[in-house]
Amino acid sequence: MTELRGKKYHIITFGCQMNEHDSETIAGLLQEEGCSQARNRMDADIVIINTCSVRENADKRFFGTLGQLKKQKAANPAFAACVCGCMMQQEHIVTQVRRQYPWVDVIFGTHNIHEFPQMLDQLYQARSAFAGEEDGEGNEDLIRMSDHDYTRAKHEIRSARDTRVERIYEDRKEIVEGLPAKRLFPHKSFVNIMYGCNNFCTYCIVPYTRGREKSRRPEDILREVKDLTADGVREVTLLGQNVNSYKGVSLAGEEEKVWDFADLIYALDEIPGLERIRFMTSHPKDLSEKLIGAFRDCGKLCRYIHLPVQSGSSRILAKMNRRYTREQYLDLVKALWQAAPEITISTDIIVGFPGETEEDFEDTLSLVREVEYDSAFTFLYSKRKGTPAAEYEDQVPEEVKHQRFNRLVDALNEISLRKNAAYIGTTQMVLVDGASKKDPGTVSGRTDGFKLVDLEGDESLAGKIVPVEITEGRTFSLRGRLKK
Ligand code: SAH
Ligand code: SF4
Ligand code: F3S
Repeated sequence: MTELRGKKYHIITFGCQMNEHDSETIAGLLQEEGCSQARNRMDADIVIINTCSVRENADKRFFGTLGQLKKQKAANPAFAACVCGCMMQQEHIVTQVRRQYPWVDVIFGTHNIHEFPQMLDQLYQARSAFAGEEDGEGNEDLIRMSDHDYTRAKHEIRSARDTRVERIYEDRKEIVEGLPAKRLFPHKSFVNIMYGCNNFCTYCIVPYTRGREKSRRPEDILREVKDLTADGVREVTLLGQNVNSYKGVSLAGEEEKVWDFADLIYALDEIPGLERIRFMTSHPKDLSEKLIGAFRDCGKLCRYIHLPVQSGSSRILAKMNRRYTREQYLDLVKALWQAAPEITISTDIIVGFPGETEEDFEDTLSLVREVEYDSAFTFLYSKRKGTPAAEYEDQVPEEVKHQRFNRLVDALNEISLRKNAAYIGTTQMVLVDGASKKDPGTVSGRTDGFKLVDLEGDESLAGKIVPVEITEGRTFSLRGRLKK
């Protein structure tokens, strides 16, 4: 793919870790074709927007960014505007992109990532063929044009419609193995262990955008992690929408053997050179005793769990189709405390799910106080087209949602601050990520329990696990000093 060689790319990522990891794969694929990362968006020949269908305002930010690409494309005839990610798995969104943003060149879905370089190649070929038929010359002056003048030149922009390349909606049976990734950090890496989701929580679009659950083979995962450690990685985060339902079929040995998630953790724990294992996300309904045991037994498994509760009311949990009760959730937390008393716990909570009463919300507040979360992602319920809850009649008024949201955040922050203050005077092992962007002379990293720690130091600490004495506990982070 000679046309790709030497091109500069820029990726904008709006979603979760899985989305971020997809961006790393896209970057890896482009690097293999001889592309390099652009300094910024304006410097790029290829811009890729990797979208999210869940995060608050991710859709508005997406359409806003798309608008900006219009002028960039006008200035550079070779420019490629590409969009991918979860929103592209939603048909009404793709229709909107085709109609309102005709200058978009490549649209691909979450199952087509590995085909992206081919798609670009196809685009460049189609363009040269198209240029032969029409005078498709680009114009450097377009970027300085007003919007009115701009419409006059729109035949050039419209040409994207004739050359656009699209590949979406194909959920495939087989997992594509062996894709490259350009990691954000040399010392830590995401590793997908499974794709998709079968749970169909009634508020959630992910099962529709990511397809059905598929687990990678244990030997493929182990090989990837061994290769990563040989390349300097010390920490891996295993990714899946519900890692607890991992079911990997191993073909090694005499006959097929099915591995569950805990089996995988025990095996990874044996890999020399690997120091930390994390995972995301864990559905409470499938959190097994065996996995809780791994927190006791496996030295490399970080004593931290993200265990989304969503609501503290069993009535609402049933309407959400979460398939556990408040009591069952609290029993799990107690079992985790017993297996690893120092464990830190974070969660996701939705406020204002249809039908949520003041009493249901109070149940969420009381659960939060009982678990004492170290941190939490809080979401205002919002309708997602195509999900059952979007059709529920008993939607909670916006102002009630906001008011409850603020009360919840206040409660969570007070707990985080108190818990973080309790770390003052302790020594924590911190894996340093690198220099802090905001604060020169400061580096930041994470404790075993995933607490963010700032400390004085320079780039030479990056990738090292160092002892840090905690001197300050804030709501969202700790501060400390390197212990000599
Ligand atoms: N698989 C993960 C979650 C992926 S989505 C899990 O089950 O934990 C991340 C979070 O977004 C969810 O945990 C939920 O809290 C939130 N979320 C998803 N859909 C939402 C919606 N329609 N409105 C508000 N929050 C939502
Ligand atoms: Fe969405 Fe539920 Fe699947 Fe998580 S488990 S991705 S919240 S449907
Ligand atoms: Fe968003 Fe898709 Fe992740 S919808 S949260 S990017 S799985």
